[in-house]
Formats: sequence, structure tokens, C-alpha cells
Amino acid sequence: MNDRVGGSRTLSGIPVEQLNEAEATAELERLAAEIAEHDRRYYEHDAPSVSDAEYDALRLRNSAIEARFPNLKRADSPTERVGTAPSGKFSKVRHAIPMLSLDNAFSDDDVRDFVARIRRFLRLGDDALLRITAEPKIDGLSLSLRYENGELVHAVTRGDGTTGENVTANAKTIDDIPARLKGSPPDVIEVRGEVYMTKEDFADLNERQETAGKQTYVNPRNTAAGSLRQLDASVTAERPLKFFAYAWGEVSQLPADTQMGMVEAFKAYGFQTNPLMDVFDSVEALLKHYHHIETERGALAYDIDGVVYKVDDLSYQERLGFVSRSPRWAIAHKFPAEKAMTTLKAIDIQVGRTGAITPVARLEPVTVGGVVVENATLHNAEEIERLGVMIGDTVIVQRAGDVIPQILGFVPEKRPVDAEPYTFPAKCPCDLATDIVREANISGAESVVRRCSGEFACPYQRKEHLKHFVSRRAFDIEGLGEKQIEAFFDDAMLPIRTPADIFTLQKRDDANALQKLKNREGYGEVSAQKLFDAIEGRRTIPLERMIYALGIRHVGEATAKTLARAYGAWGAFEAAALQVADGDTDTREEMDALEDIGAAVIDSVAAYFTEPHNRDLVEALAAELTIEEAERPAADTAFSGKTIVFTGSLERMSRDEAKEMAERLGAKAAGSVSKKTDLVVAGPGAGSKLKKATELGIEVIDEDEWFRRTGRSS
Ligand code: IVH
Repeated sequence: MNDRVGGSRTLSGIPVEQLNEAEATAELERLAAEIAEHDRRYYEHDAPSVSDAEYDALRLRNSAIEARFPNLKRADSPTERVGTAPSGKFSKVRHAIPMLSLDNAFSDDDVRDFVARIRRFLRLGDDALLRITAEPKIDGLSLSLRYENGELVHAVTRGDGTTGENVTANAKTIDDIPARLKGSPPDVIEVRGEVYMTKEDFADLNERQETAGKQTYVNPRNTAAGSLRQLDASVTAERPLKFFAYAWGEVSQLPADTQMGMVEAFKAYGFQTNPLMDVFDSVEALLKHYHHIETERGALAYDIDGVVYKVDDLSYQERLGFVSRSPRWAIAHKFPAEKAMTTLKAIDIQVGRTGAITPVARLEPVTVGGVVVENATLHNAEEIERLGVMIGDTVIVQRAGDVIPQILGFVPEKRPVDAEPYTFPAKCPCDLATDIVREANISGAESVVRRCSGEFACPYQRKEHLKHFVSRRAFDIEGLGEKQIEAFFDDAMLPIRTPADIFTLQKRDDANALQKLKNREGYGEVSAQKLFDAIEGRRTIPLERMIYALGIRHVGEATAKTLARAYGAWGAFEAAALQVADGDTDTREEMDALEDIGAAVIDSVAAYFTEPHNRDLVEALAAELTIEEAERPAADTAFSGKTIVFTGSLERMSRDEAKEMAERLGAKAAGSVSKKTDLVVAGPGAGSKLKKATELGIEVIDEDEWFRRTGRSS
């Protein structure tokens, strides 16, 4: 970096206007190498060694020199790669069918419950045949490969499940991914599976890195992810990546009617499939296979973190459908968590979005199952008491998958003489030092949860609200994450203290915005403009994300989606929320009739909209946005928008399945009959609901008629 000219000054310090041609050539060479190195660090290790501002400055200087000496522009010039800079590296592709995640089971009993739930849902007796597959859960990253007429047309990462990144060029370099399918595949088929790196290839790669004096990688999974997301496909080509096929997205004509049959078809098309996959017809046989795979785990060539079970019969899968983001017909049985010992250095207090106070253990960094752990949750004061830990103790930490690490206990023999007991604070650590209160739970007893009573006056809670607001499943603004919220929140010149502030950021600062941001650590002109662009890109937002982003207590993603679908438009939702807040009982009842929405949700929606500060906040925010109307699940069925009540005993389907069917047809399944009910499906033994329906003159049909109308024969 210290190219000296004339022995007195470094080249990088010479203003562009003063460079001569020889100096410019040398500078362009240096910049190309340096920028390429920063890109490599950023993309391969997720570990940039310079701030965005410094990085931007390098690129700007490079462009300025090229503008002055166009003939000196290099073939590998970084400006050729501007469109693929960090934020918009790969083009985005929307998945024809979302890529979902799996629910987890942690014990044999969880698996028994899973199978029992499925039997109940499908109304299968204990003796009816129910086949379930079991296969290793590969610790890699999932990829969706779309083939049209047997040719690979694109490869897309999972992304947020709805939209992923187009990494086709990179996927084509992987031997296990055929460019052309063998045999006779359907016209359109999206094959999904896991990209991974073997333990041996990972060790070899790290050895090469070390010999070359380069940074080594943490684990095979992260390396595989970094390798697949390379800008330059020739780098991916040098990485020994592999692929197992185990699932699918859009398919024009299914080649089989079982999970096992589908995987066999993938094999015939030329994919690798996992040899440890098999099909079983009892829970005990599934568990036996799980324990078998668990013993084989260490000897396998690749990392796995559990076993995935899937209902084999695809018509059962279809009926079972999904809950939120995971299929009801599959579950991941995770291997037990890994443990390690380390020192408890301190206990800090964290204030959450709802004011909940959580003690967090600060640990001497320790590697647990391949990941460095420095913090662990201690849940609440009772937990600290139960564990009996003191500051300075040697503690046992456990990490299971993506769950926050936990402390299991301490080692008494190792307690140092100067170990200090911990006293739970009575005041919030925020400037206001508000009282920490223990709230009563429903039965009136004191709850273990302590909250800061400061609500919106507590800066911690406001900050947490903002962090939630910009989080991935909410507004998901690229370049505006937790770290940036922390900085903007306390910024004197250009603060973000409410969600609306995000959208007024640029206009509040007029022409000076870029300059001011530039002066702040971490921002250069390019990155500031990128941030403004990212914010503009989110000015239009789907209704369900908007509702979820508000961070109303008990309103998670699934609930936000239900509310969005029920009310359709922001205006309708807001009106209902305000009416509920003002004590309107009709609106409350209407909300209560929605699937999975009960008193807890309604009370917190009411509480949220009762608070004047929140009303102002929401109003200011909505004024900045275009809120898209919610998608109705199936717009054109005879049942769209209808409210249906199922009552009495149903014989051909469970109550859950009935509700699920109704929802898929675009209807709402309600729990009680009112003037708003459109149809009642009554089975034997129906009582008061049937009576009320008759009184109100609502159409009543039986289960067979329901099946006739919905077009499902069996
Ligand atoms: S099935 C609709 N099978 O686990 C369900 N997933 O936690 C589709 N994974 O995103 C997933 N091995 O990346 C399935 N044998 C396997 C798997 C597997 C690893 C990953 C996959 C998925 C995640 C869900």
C-alpha cells in the first residue's frame, strides 16, 4: 500500500488531478487489487476489514482516475462490477412456491407427538398405515434449481423464503448439479436440496489458505455459503461444493405419488440423493433410524444436525398443508445440543421491545460446536437464583442449533474465592432509571417477567421497536440494521427516533444529507445513496409486513398475516384497531371470530392503539407509505370472503383440516355463528350453533355436501 514516489510521498495521497500517467497506471493497479481483496473478505468471510466509507473512497478514487485517463482503464476494473456491489450483488428471483423451513423436535416424545398430531388431523386410527421417511438433515444451505424441458434455467438461494438470489452461474460449476436432466423429467420441475462441503474438503481448503498465509474459515457450512455466493463463478468452481436433492417446488406433472418416489425420480434425473434416507411405518422404527444415524454422525463425510421426517404419501402432505412457515407433514429431529465450559465474566441487563428485562451472561469466548459463544441468556432473576451462579464462576454453556446459548449450571469446585453474587437491579438501566415492575399474570400471581415501566419514554424500548421495525421479516431495509439504528437513534444531526423518521431521513436533510452522513463514521457517498435507495424501495410495503413491523405484543408474523387477510387494506385494519381500542364490542367480536385470534391479541392491539403516542407514530408512518392490499388466498372460489362455521362431529376430516380447507378456498373459519356467518357445516350432534344458524336463516349443509361443493371426493 505504501507505493513511494520520489521517496517522499505515497501515491495514494496524491490528488487525482495531480497524477501523471505512470502514477495513474500504478494507482489503478493498486486500487484494483485492494478493492478485489476487500470484496473477497466481504463475500467469502463476511468479515470486511475496512469501513463502508473507506471502501467507498477507494472505489470513488478509482472512478475519478479512470475518468481522467479513460485509456488506462484496466480489463479487471472494479467499476465494471459496480452493479454487483454488496447490496445488489445478485439479481433477486421470486420463488414460484415459497421455500419453507422446518419445525423442530428435540426429544423422542416430540416425535411421538408429531406423528399423533398427523393421525388426528387426517383422522387416521392407530392401526391405519402411515408411512414416514427419515433422512439426515444436512448442515448446508438450500438451493432451488429450476429445469425447463430438462435444461437448468436458474438456481436460486432460499433468501427470505419468498425471494432468493440468482446464483445460476455459480451453481453450474457444481458437479452434483446436472446442467441437463437425464431420463424423462416433467416439462417444468424445480428440484430443491442442500449445497454442502465435506469435512475433508473443508480441512484441505483451510490448509491451503493457511499455507498461502490467508484467513482460515470457521466451519464447512459457512464456507459453503460463502463459496456459493461468490461474484466470480471461477472462484466457486475452485471450491469443492456438493449437492443432495431432497425436495421440490413447482412441478408441471409430479413423477411420483410418494416422497420416496420423488427422491428416486431425482436420482434417475442424475442427482445425488442421501443413501441414509428410508421409509418406515411406526414411530419406534423412525426413532431407531434416528439413533442409528446419530451413531454414524461422526463417520459421515459431511456435517449433519439432525434427522428430517416427512409423511411419505403426497396426498396426505397436500391435505396436511402448512402452519405459518413450516409444513405440518415434516419435522426436523435435532441432535442434542453441544456443551462447553467457560468463565462467567459479568451479567448485563437487556431491555427488550416490550420492556421485558433479560439478564445476559457475558462469557469468556468459547467454541461450542464450531461456533464462538460470548453471550448466553439467563432468562430472569429466578433462573439466576436457581442456577446459583456468581460472577467469576466456571459455567457450562449449551448451544442447540440457532437457539440462543443457555447456561446449564456452574462447577462448584472451580468457584474462585473472589466470586461475586449478583443482585438484580430495581431500576431500568436507561437514563430515566424507571422502576422495574413485575407484572401479574392472568391468574393474578406475580409473573417471572420484569418490565421497565417506561414504555415509550424508555429509550431502550424505542430503540428495540425500531430494530424490530427494520428487521428481516418486517421492513427489511438493506443497510439499516441493529447497528445503524443504534447510531442513528443517538445522532444529533439526523436522528431516527420513530419509524416515520426513516422515511423522512433524506428530505429532512435536503441536499446536505449525503455530506452529513459522509462525515459520520461508516458512511461514504456511495453507501449513503445506497441506504436512501433501499429506504425508497420499501416505501411500498405489503399490509402483513406493515402490521407485523409495528411490534404489537402477541402479533407475530402468522397473526399479522391473518389480520391482513381478514381486513384486506390498511385503512380497514386501522379503523378496526381504533374501534377495538375505543371499546367497540361488535368490532371486537368480529376480530375474535378470526382464526387463532383471541383475547390476548385483541387486548394488545387495543392497548397499542389506545396509547396516543402510538396513534401518532402510526399515522405519521402511514402517511409516508403506500401499503399494499393483502393477497386473498384463493380469490375465485365460490367460498372467497365467506365466513363458515363447522359444528357438530365431523366424520371425514378433523376440525383442523376443515378450517384449513376453508382457508385455502379463501374463506374464514369462525368459531361462533353470527349475522356475519355465510354457511354452517353441521355434523351429527350439532346443538346451539345449528339452532342459532336456523334462527338467523343461514344456509346449513352436511359434511358430504361440503365435500361435493369443494370438489374433493375422498
Ligand atoms: S426438507 C418444506 N430435508 O433444513 C421442507 N430440509 O430447517 C423443505 N435441510 O431450509 C425442507 N437437510 O435447508 C429438508 N433432508 C432435508 C434437509 C433439509 C437440510 C435444511 C433446508 C431447510 C432447513 C429447514
